[in-house]
Amino acid sequence: MAIPTHTLNDGSTLPAIGFGTYPLEGEAAVSAIVSAIEAGYRLLDTAVNYGNEAEVGEAVRACGLPREELLVASKIPGRDHGYDDAIASVHGSLERLGLDYLDLHLVHWPNPSVGKYAEAWRALVDLKEQGLVRSIGVSNFTEAHLRRVIDETGVTPAVNQIELHPYFPQVEMRAVNERLGIQTESWSPLGKRQAPFAESAVAAAAAAHDVSPGQVILRWQVQLGAVPIPKSATPERQRANLDVFGFELDDAEMAAITALGRPDGRLFGGDPDTHEEM
Ligand SMILES: NC(=O)c1ccc[n+]([C@@H]2O[C@H](COP(=O)([O-])OP(=O)(O)OC[C@H]3O[C@@H](n4cnc5c(N)ncnc54)[C@H](OP(=O)(O)O)[C@@H]3O)[C@@H](O)[C@H]2O)c1
Repeated sequence: MAIPTHTLNDGSTLPAIGFGTYPLEGEAAVSAIVSAIEAGYRLLDTAVNYGNEAEVGEAVRACGLPREELLVASKIPGRDHGYDDAIASVHGSLERLGLDYLDLHLVHWPNPSVGKYAEAWRALVDLKEQGLVRSIGVSNFTEAHLRRVIDETGVTPAVNQIELHPYFPQVEMRAVNERLGIQTESWSPLGKRQAPFAESAVAAAAAAHDVSPGQVILRWQVQLGAVPIPKSATPERQRANLDVFGFELDDAEMAAITALGRPDGRLFGGDPDTHEEM
């Protein structure tokens, strides 16, 4: 199955859906990631703080595909926001992954009280120029955080990976990203343990299209223009989650799912202005 792609603001392409790897670890992670690649995923999402970059690298080598057919994405943790620390952090990621370049690297959280996310961003700008990272982006950035890094460097992130699922559809942040030419990626795209599979807006669309509730939610993500990165350790779910390009939700179905959104819909209170991760 060919996965459609988005063209990023730096000219690179990103698959319309990727594979999330948190909290997979150890041998189980390697086999789950290999099975995801066999199912057709080409974009793998990891982070220093997931503690599984080595496993992602092992899966990339074990899967039998040429390196250039896969896109590997990782993230700089909050404790490494100083410029030199950020440079060292990305080199550390490459070492653990056993790769000589990353396809995408993000600043994981802005941690505004520390106030150094723009330094981390400058480091990514320089690493991209050196060819160590093909595309650079951010995660959990608000409009103010985005504007600051753009103002300070003149370089707009290619991607902003944000919490996005039916209970938190991020109408405003999606519009901000779009206005700035930034591709939205969705973390916890199904809604993780609070996945709204039983909500009538989701269940009715699943019945109408003869697909699962999970496929409806991921199709909603795709039609929003966001790139979801669902995680599953289960090969059947991995395949089902990727199989969302053979049906289309109509406007009413899309609107009904977006209407599940609520102000307190975040999974764990991860407001980027206040929630910090080191
Ligand atoms: N940037 C950030 O700050 C940030 C934060 C959180 C997450 N992330 C990234 O986003 C990725 C995805 O988010 P997530 O793992 O939190 O949430 P998610 O992908 O929305 O949900 C994953 C959970 O749903 C289950 N699941 C998957 N497919 C299913 C299906 N078709 N039907 C029923 N259950 C299903 C999985 O269980 P099984 O494994 O048993 O199938 C797992 O428990 C992470 O892996 C990580 O890469 C980024």
